Amino acid sequence: MKVLVVGSGGREHTLVWKLAQSPRMDRIYCAPGNGGISKLAERVDISADDMEALVRFARDKGVDLTVVGPEGPLALGIVDRFEEAGLRVFGPRKNAAILEGSKQFTKDFLTRHGIPTAAYQSFTDPEAAISYIRRQGAPIVVKADGLAAGKGVIVAQQVDEAVAAVEEIMRAKRFGAAGDTVVVEACLVGEEASFMAFTDGKTVVPMLSSQDHKQVLDGDQGPNTGGMGAYTPAPVIQERTAEIMDAIMVPTVRGMAEEGRPFTGVLYAGLMITTDGISVLEYNVRFGDPEAQPILFRLKSDLVDIIEAILANRLHECRIEWTEGASACVVLSSGGYPGTYETGKEISGLDVIPDSDDLYVFHAGTQTTNGKIVTAGGRVLGVTARGPNLASALGRSYDAVNRIHFEGKHYRTDIGQKGLERNKG
Ligand code: AMP
Ligand code: GLY
Repeated sequence: MKVLVVGSGGREHTLVWKLAQSPRMDRIYCAPGNGGISKLAERVDISADDMEALVRFARDKGVDLTVVGPEGPLALGIVDRFEEAGLRVFGPRKNAAILEGSKQFTKDFLTRHGIPTAAYQSFTDPEAAISYIRRQGAPIVVKADGLAAGKGVIVAQQVDEAVAAVEEIMRAKRFGAAGDTVVVEACLVGEEASFMAFTDGKTVVPMLSSQDHKQVLDGDQGPNTGGMGAYTPAPVIQERTAEIMDAIMVPTVRGMAEEGRPFTGVLYAGLMITTDGISVLEYNVRFGDPEAQPILFRLKSDLVDIIEAILANRLHECRIEWTEGASACVVLSSGGYPGTYETGKEISGLDVIPDSDDLYVFHAGTQTTNGKIVTAGGRVLGVTARGPNLASALGRSYDAVNRIHFEGKHYRTDIGQKGLERNKG
């Protein structure tokens, strides 16, 4: 079988790594890929958003299955386009990808279906948004409706900060048309967790619980990033899978089907665990990055079998197995990220870390230049390990982290700490 993976981050490297283990795999292509992916897949110089070129490539090469990593092409309708061309593709169609593509749609949808989420109002008029913020007071959360590369959410501690966010999103159009509408919502307090499930539109099968670390600095300080590390299981929700499935995941998949937007693929709920219950902060319509790294690292079953069961609407027949224990991914980023940073820094130490079943260094923002691996993005590597428990998985990851070097290397030293503390308590 020939597979095309679309995307270039750590998540896509992990997908390639996992798909390559399938006994049915003959060849994997990755468009556009990164500096580490070429060990396992042939890189294709086509951007993840160039749907027409991707369709042409898949047709020309006789690709049997395309797996889409990032949200951008899903929101653009890459799945619809591949289906029209008679090509097999894994991910939600455009009318279902709206769960990530429009925060207003999602908030209205959650309310229609009685799924817990923070109180909110949406606005197309900045003046109305600002007077609502002044009436509600701070802390308060302002969100650009559309996709904004993870930067469109401002958790404001002061009213002035929330007003400035509205000005920036709606008047200065920092995120373009993604900011034509804003959602203003109540600020929830609690611990966050990530919950992903496979679904064929009817059956919903949970993956392992996980937790991301969004802020760039230890102790959840500093600005939000795409994610600085993740681990599984996440004790804050590990025992609450049934509740999350019943109150959130299953009603969402059923509701989308009822509304004529059947959801197929990976549904990811960003959750806030509050003292009043579990609330949905957002949906993503794809694997999380970096959550995919520790989760797929523990997937025993063949991912191709799972995807094919989903495409055939028979996920209910599929048994999905995971390894015991725990896993963790520590992200190494370029100094300065998520602000400005330099690239082209040579990475050393990768060759002394042997790939094994227990440890793998997934690449994200890397490139190969003159035979050397150099940095090429904000998040550079995702050092991923597993072990009998979280402490051993983290120990293995950090041991490898300390052997990898590049100028400006940054990472959080407290990945998984919340989990370790809860395991103790
Ligand atoms: P989102 O993209 O909607 O998940 O928002 C990005 C981040 O903003 C989340 O991971 C949370 O850390 C934070 N956030 C979003 N909504 C809220 C909320 N209602 N209350 C508190 N924090 C929030
Ligand atoms: N780690 C958060 C995300 O994938 O959006």
